[in-house]
Amino acid sequence: MSLLKLAHQHLHDTVCAGDVAIDATIGNGHDTLFLAEQVGVAGKVYGFDIQQAAIVATREKLQQSQWRDCVTLIQASHADMAAHIPVNHQGKINACMFNLGYLPKGDKRIITQTDSTLQALTAACDLLAPQGMITILAYPGHAGGDVETAGVEQWTEQLNSQHFSVSIFFSSTPSSLAPRLLVIQKLL
Ligand SMILES: C[S@@+](CC[C@H](N)C(=O)[O-])C[C@H]1O[C@@H](n2cnc3c(N)ncnc32)[C@H](O)[C@@H]1O
Repeated sequence: MSLLKLAHQHLHDTVCAGDVAIDATIGNGHDTLFLAEQVGVAGKVYGFDIQQAAIVATREKLQQSQWRDCVTLIQASHADMAAHIPVNHQGKINACMFNLGYLPKGDKRIITQTDSTLQALTAACDLLAPQGMITILAYPGHAGGDVETAGVEQWTEQLNSQHFSVSIFFSSTPSSLAPRLLVIQKLL
């Protein structure tokens, strides 16, 4: 099973109809659509990306679906997500997906960056509901991805283990360059 499918499976088991979710890196909108399917028309998805191309691609995808009204797309850094989530949804986020790196078929020079990724993860932890989940697909194989992946793993080590559980999955033999999925669950 691919790591993306594994992330979807974890989220499918966690997210219910009517829930609130964040796609922190919407890219071409596949994960946004997946989250919208999980929360349904009674739920809400907030999607972030810094690139207009990602917003346009995702909006087009949503227009062809029944989920367009439950998704809000925001062209901003996920580092600033807390400022964009309405007060009534703060502390009520049931899932937050990160798919790090560059936009597939897009400008490969625009990648997620360690500092903003860590700011976003910290914000996401605060926004999560009890039992809420963060999934992070991290790719150390591209330039800059190695530093970012190491930074994310170090960041997870300082999480209070009474408040958060952290699991890590590899699709192949673990190695320094192998992509990985980190799953964080808020316990309280
Ligand atoms: C691997 S792609 C995401 C793929 C996407 N989830 C999908 O289903 O197609 C990573 C995305 O992160 C975006 N990105 C980079 N830095 C960002 C930031 N600070 N805040 C939000 N998005 C960012 C990139 O523009 C790119 O579209």
